[in-house]
Amino acid sequence: MLTNLTLSVTDRVATITVNRPDKLNALNAVTIGELGQVIDEVRSRDDIGGAILTGAGKAFVAGADISELASQQPLDAKQRALRGQAIFARFESSPKPIIAAVNGFALGGGCELAMSCHLRIASEFAKFGQPEVKLGICPGYGGTQRLPRLIGKGRALQLLLTGEMIDAAEAYRIGLVNRVVPAAELLSTAVAMIRAMLVNGPLALGLCIEAVNRGYDGSLEDGLNLEANHFALLSGTKDMAEGTAAFMAKRPAAFEGR
Ligand code: COA
Repeated sequence: MLTNLTLSVTDRVATITVNRPDKLNALNAVTIGELGQVIDEVRSRDDIGGAILTGAGKAFVAGADISELASQQPLDAKQRALRGQAIFARFESSPKPIIAAVNGFALGGGCELAMSCHLRIASEFAKFGQPEVKLGICPGYGGTQRLPRLIGKGRALQLLLTGEMIDAAEAYRIGLVNRVVPAAELLSTAVAMIRAMLVNGPLALGLCIEAVNRGYDGSLEDGLNLEANHFALLSGTKDMAEGTAAFMAKRPAAFEGR
């Protein structure tokens, strides 16, 4: 039973909507727990090939719930950060692609959640930022780590230290989002992009994600070795036999994920 999120599935594409619009979808403990529940469901259900994550109303997610942060003590805060980080990591490591469709404010934990997805598409009205320093804290759900990896250290430090909000065009310019589209086309663009992925071999999608994630933080040598292993593993699959046979027969491939 979900109270602050909705999950719907159409033709193998799941749409997860953070649905607490009166609080700009701020991530309270309940919402974080439900994100954990939903990502586990997306990852385990055979009828889901990939997911889109978006927000209801004018925000994607306006951050952690400040009313909960206000009374936290250091040890609770550490638990809060670790719990959220572990749940966001399950989005990032999902072998099924996840696109953040950023419809509005993606601030603090919202920007961190979007960065935990594999791709980000923004509405022209989206706004991004890590304003935690304005509250006298630092990000706790991965902002100091994923932001520099995505946009570079200097630009990340600028956003982290000023706490400034940037618009979708600037987010695109610095590589924080993959595309910016008119608001009315946000979900249809995200669905089209995920469908363009889901026609491909599902095992290959999962191992590409894993190779990029693991390779990014390690040495080039280890990453290349992992890639060679994944390449080898996929060569024993029915999907590779089907994909190559379909190419040669000039017909679309029908992958089964085996
Ligand atoms: N935590 C808890 N409540 C939040 C929230 C958050 N992160 N962000 C917004 N809200 C609540 C507001 O308190 C308000 O609730 P109320 O109607 O009961 O007073 C409601 O959502 C609407 O927000 P409001 O500030 O009135 O909207 P706005 O359009 O004037 O401003 C923002 C939008 C995003 C600029 C502003 O809400 C904001 O700065 N939010 C905090 C962003 C932040 O610091 N996030 C990082 C947290 S670590």
